[in-house]
This record gives sequence, structure tokens and C-alpha cells, in this order.
Amino acid sequence: MNIDRRSFLKVAGGASVAGSLSGYGVSTRNASAAVPAFGFADDSIPMNAANICPMPLMVSEAYTKYARQLDLSLSTASRRSVEAFKEEARGRIASMLGTSADEIAIVRNTSEANNTIVQGMPIREGDEVVLWDQNHPSNSVAWEVQAARVGATVRRFSVPVETGSIDEVVDIFIDAIGDKTAVLSFTHISNITGFRIPAEEVCTAIRKHKNDVFIHLDGAQTWGAVDINLGAIEMDSFSGSAHKWFMGPREVGILYVRERHIDRIWPNIVSVPWMGGADNPPKGARKFDALGQRDDAAIASLNEAAQFHETITPAGIEECSKLVSDRLRAGLEDLSVAFVSTAHPDFTSSIVIIQMPRENARALVGRVFKDAAVQCAATGGFRMTPHVYNNEDHVDRVIAAVKKNRGMLS
Ligand SMILES: Cc1ncc(COP(=O)(O)O)c(C=O)c1O
Repeated sequence: MNIDRRSFLKVAGGASVAGSLSGYGVSTRNASAAVPAFGFADDSIPMNAANICPMPLMVSEAYTKYARQLDLSLSTASRRSVEAFKEEARGRIASMLGTSADEIAIVRNTSEANNTIVQGMPIREGDEVVLWDQNHPSNSVAWEVQAARVGATVRRFSVPVETGSIDEVVDIFIDAIGDKTAVLSFTHISNITGFRIPAEEVCTAIRKHKNDVFIHLDGAQTWGAVDINLGAIEMDSFSGSAHKWFMGPREVGILYVRERHIDRIWPNIVSVPWMGGADNPPKGARKFDALGQRDDAAIASLNEAAQFHETITPAGIEECSKLVSDRLRAGLEDLSVAFVSTAHPDFTSSIVIIQMPRENARALVGRVFKDAAVQCAATGGFRMTPHVYNNEDHVDRVIAAVKKNRGMLS
């Protein structure tokens, strides 16, 4: 393995992440930090961040506290005090993403965020929508349905996993754009291969090539996992779910829409607090989160999730998660398994997938849980998506369990 064990432990071992945890360690109940950050036990370790993450205890406790507050008193003052955290969360998230709060909508999940763009984008008959063929259904089938509705067309392109350089990826994207392309929509990090598109370079090149293409970036596997600055990427919108890598409340997500596009994108749902008539929408991207009564306790606890990220820092989280996934990749390489996910450093992510037939992958998920007590997934192969709450022991247990059950790989 090519990872220095001491540097791994320094970052992943708990209270020392980026040296900045001040008060709560990234550790489980069974690890040795002064204050555990997560509540899961050693006999049920999550390693499926691409699907769903546990919330840090400070977030789940905040959620319970806010829900209880509302149950004890639904007075206007009580409700307003919980609702107020929505704006705090919006501001924290915006500043971590390098945007303004007015460009962030707090919606329910990535599917809703993607569909706000799909259905709200004023595409017309004859327009072409260009999609990466690894997009999630909410950013793929959803476009087909919308294209059928308005008479537009959908075209898909592939990026071969063995692509060797960022320039090659950029060329593939440029070649996919035609005269009629109105929208390019792609996933930043694929949930089915783990391939990370070099979004900054791609978007810069597209802007030079055809400036009027609207670019949507699905950030479901990015937000909370990667230190990303949306201000530096020339896309127009970005989506994410809090319950994935952001380790936040369930059924809360974000949609970023660049300021100059907010007016031209139609909202899918118009409800309270949008009450002032069609010409008087809520400010900025808030017009996309006027969804009526919501789970205010969940939205309020998004603020604690954001504070958790501020404390560890997005860069610290990315570094920690990378060390864990690099160790996992290296351990599996030692077993000579075939990978779906790339090992090319320009395109890797914390999504590590090994090849196997789907039915075997499902069975292996069960075996690995039985042998190692680690929950993985059968998406794109046998998928392991470790995060900051995973440590060296979790990784080594998965590698040992795969080794033990390697007969199932083919
Ligand atoms: C790339 C991508 N986009 C969108 C989604 C949908 O996320 P959600 O179910 O939270 O709406 C997922 C879910 O795995 C995903 O991986």
C-alpha cells in the first residue's frame, strides 16, 4: 500500500482532522476521541455516503431539539425562532460554496433541484439538451420527459473510463455541443463509476466554444465531499442533497442558480412564502424554495450541519475522505480485483467500485456486512463510499471481507 499509515491516522483518526475540531472529534462511539461526533456502533458501520450518511450527533440532537420545541409550542415566536435558522444555514452554505446566499434555494433533495432546472428552463421545440450518459435519472430521464413535452431533443455522450487526460475529457465535451444545444447537464462525480469530471476546465472551454449554453452541474456526490468553489466554475446551476456527503438532515437539499438566470427559470412549485403576486417573488433563488409548509426542524438543523463542515473545513473533509478512499483503493489493488472506478488521479473521487455482476454485488453487500459489519452498496458494481467517519479499521475490515469472498467477483 502506498499510504503512509501515520499520516492516515493523523487525519482520519479522530480529533485531529486538520487540527481544528475544537470540541468534537470525527469518531464513532467506539473510537477514542473525547467527544464522539457520530453515534453509530462498531457492529453497523456506514460506508455508503453516496447514498446516505449518518448525521453527526450535534445535528441529530439539534433536529430533535427543534422538533420538540415546535411540539411544545407552536406559538408564532416559537415557530419563527426555528424558521430563522433557515437563513443562517443558507448564508453558511453559500459562503462555503463561494456564492451569495441569494443564489441558494433550500429545496428537498437533488432530484427536486435537478427537476427545478429541467422543468423550469425555458427550452423550446428544436432545442437540444446534451447529457452525460452517466447522469442520474433525475438529470436524465427527467430531461427526456421534458423534451417530449416541448418538442426538444436529447443527445447523450460518453466519457470512457480509460480517458487519459483532462484535455481529452474537455474535447469530448466540446464535441458533444452542437449548434442547437441549449443546455448541457452533467454529474460532477458519477454515482455509478465514481469518475470525477474536471468541471472547471470543461465549463471554461464550453463558454469559449458556445457562450449561450446553459450548464447544469449535478453535485449530489460533490456537496459535502469536495471543497468546491462554485464561483470559480463557469456553470449556471448546481444541485445537492444534505443527507449524502453533507451529513445533514434528510429530505433537505440545495439548488444554486447563478444570479443572472434566476429570473428566467420558472419555479416548479409556487406556494407560501410567495404571496405577493407573480411579479413579486421571494428574493433571489428563494423563489425556488417556496414549497409551502416544510419540516422546519430538519431545515433548522441544516445550520448545525453547516457548522460541522465549517469546523472541520471542506478542505479538511476532502483530505480526510481522500486518505480513507486511497487506502481502500490501494488495499483492493493488492487483491488484483477489477475496478469500475478509475485510478487516474485527475478523475478519482471517494467512490470506489469494483466490477461484478449485479446479483453477486447484492450478495457481497450482505456478506461484507456479515463479516465486517460495514454497509456498502451494489451500485455500478460493489460500491464503497467512505467518508470522514470511516477509519483505517473500517477500511481494512472491508478489504479482508472482499478478500474472503473474492470468489463472488466473477
Ligand atoms: C448523481 C446523483 N444525482 C441525483 C441523485 C438523487 O438524489 P436524491 O435521491 O437525494 O434526490 C443521486 C442519488 O444517488 C445521485 O447520485
